[in-house]
Amino acid sequence: MLIAQIRGRCTEMMTLDEFLADPGFLSNLDPLGLGNAWVKEPGFKGLYVRKTKRLWHKKLVPCVDLANVTVSKPGKGTFTRLVARLHARYNLCVECVTSEQFERGLTRRGFVKLPDQGGFPSYFLSKRMKLRE
Ligand SMILES: CC(C)(COP(=O)(O)OP(=O)(O)OC[C@H]1O[C@@H](n2cnc3c(N)ncnc32)[C@H](O)[C@@H]1OP(=O)(O)O)[C@@H](O)C(=O)NCCC(=O)NCCS
Repeated sequence: MLIAQIRGRCTEMMTLDEFLADPGFLSNLDPLGLGNAWVKEPGFKGLYVRKTKRLWHKKLVPCVDLANVTVSKPGKGTFTRLVARLHARYNLCVECVTSEQFERGLTRRGFVKLPDQGGFPSYFLSKRMKLRE
């Protein structure tokens, strides 16, 4: 019983905002301000995110990778709203995009395809780039 309670507490999922609440990450000074987690976010059935540093115009920039995304009700703007909320503050990367429909939508919104690294493509949107809605 006690072990189950402890386990329950340890495995409780944090929200996306809790995961991102880390000033060291954005300052680009804290090399340890990274990490990854499955997080809770309204409208999402599954959301796996990473705090990374990515090479962009020859500089390492902090980036939030949306590494595995599944919404509860596809096609209702849930993903677009999340991107609009995060874009003001973070560089974003959507990893391993497996659907051509999704690729077209990301491109339409201003994301650019990252150089091929084998496997499915990833798409990047710098916070300095315009998000088209
Ligand atoms: C892909 C997915 C995450 C997009 O989230 P969403 O909330 O449905 O997206 P939005 O409604 O904000 O639309 C944004 C773009 O997502 C894509 N999209 C929307 N519904 C989609 C669907 N059913 N399947 C694939 N892509 C879809 C489109 O490119 C859309 O752009 P558009 O409106 O200009 O055509 C979501 O549809 C989903 O979870 N699909 C099933 C799992 C999946 O394909 N995950 C992504 C693997 S890389």
